[in-house]
Amino acid sequence: MRKIALVNQKGGCGKTTTAINLSRCLAGMGKTVLLIDLDPQGHVALGFGVKSDHIQTSVYEVLLGQIPIARAIRTLRERLDAVLSDVILAAFEQVMAGAQEREFKLKRALEEVPAHYDYLVIDSPPSLGLLTFNALLACEEAIIPVEPSFFSLQGMQRLLETIQVVERKANHQLSVKVLATNFDRRTNFCREMFSLLQARFPEHFLATVIRNCTALREAARQGKPIGEYDQKCSAFADYQGLAREILDRESAWSATRGTTIDFQRLNLAELAVETGTIAGSISEAESGSRQPMEREVIFSLEAPAHAVVQVAGNFNNWVPESLQFTDSQVTQVWHKTISLKPGSYEYKYVIDGRWLLDPHNSRAIHDPYGGLNSVLNV
Ligand SMILES: Nc1ncnc2c1ncn2[C@@H]1O[C@H](COP(=O)(O)OP(=O)(O)O)[C@@H](O)[C@H]1O
Ligand SMILES: [Mg+2]
Repeated sequence: MRKIALVNQKGGCGKTTTAINLSRCLAGMGKTVLLIDLDPQGHVALGFGVKSDHIQTSVYEVLLGQIPIARAIRTLRERLDAVLSDVILAAFEQVMAGAQEREFKLKRALEEVPAHYDYLVIDSPPSLGLLTFNALLACEEAIIPVEPSFFSLQGMQRLLETIQVVERKANHQLSVKVLATNFDRRTNFCREMFSLLQARFPEHFLATVIRNCTALREAARQGKPIGEYDQKCSAFADYQGLAREILDRESAWSATRGTTIDFQRLNLAELAVETGTIAGSISEAESGSRQPMEREVIFSLEAPAHAVVQVAGNFNNWVPESLQFTDSQVTQVWHKTISLKPGSYEYKYVIDGRWLLDPHNSRAIHDPYGGLNSVLNV
């Protein structure tokens, strides 16, 4: 059984759309699929036309160990079953506060999944919290859907770094692939940046690209996977292509397992400058889309449990108390998300009053006092 999680802390990048349509296409190709919704928003149910008041047993009771997973499985289509979610799942993080092994609840529950499933596909919420960690730790493969803008690529880079920390701390290896979604071939940025990234990192970028297609929104509104709504649209062809690529790449995927992504090579800012796409791409992303001026930046690092973890930089006048981290559920991994305007920033982490360079960032410059600061380009 292959287990694939759809993850990205950013909402609206196509996680749920991909979970629904990939599962439906795999089932259409003869595979037996179990789709699990780990997002309290419960959009998987809506995408299959299931009303929320028709969900009697949800993934919440399964995660809490109140019922075996078999009791929460329902059939959606031929060869396609699901464990659905509803809004009660939002309480999971709070209910689990301080609980032992809380990031492995899904993994444990899946030990009882009937063996006849070929694929397990997990949709996750738009956050890097306990539910997403449960998804990552229950799977061997992860797909990160990314919308092609320069800034979502930067968000992806931070997510990849966080996944790497999670892998190390939990001693769990993941094969991670990036999927370009909502792709508009007309813009230079999309074309140049993605073809460059796919060419440079074929092992980490899926060859399939999901084009922008309005039929997807309409199909979702009608509670249908795309193949049941319109088989002539580009989205159906793209998701069929994705399912085929995943089937074809069974051996290739397992071959890349455990390889770590070389983040030095994945320095997007330098890549963009190198290819001359950066000036065009930034103005395109800002003028042509809904992106606000400020960008979300995720800081994540390892620190002892119960530590006081902060970040200080020229974005908060070097006052660490103003940016306190939270314990990120996976033991000793801490994170903090802040919004910053595009620009170059210097910063340091502060753990229990000790000032440290970012151990995952090799870029540093001298401060006026003879020390070093880490450098971040937003
Ligand atoms: N390729 C696409 N083209 C057009 N609209 C899309 C595409 N992929 C997703 N959408 C739409 O974008 C919205 C957000 O997608 P969704 O899959 O719910 O994102 P997420 O689960 O990451 O929050 C939905 O309304 C969906 O129908
Ligand atoms: Mg979603």
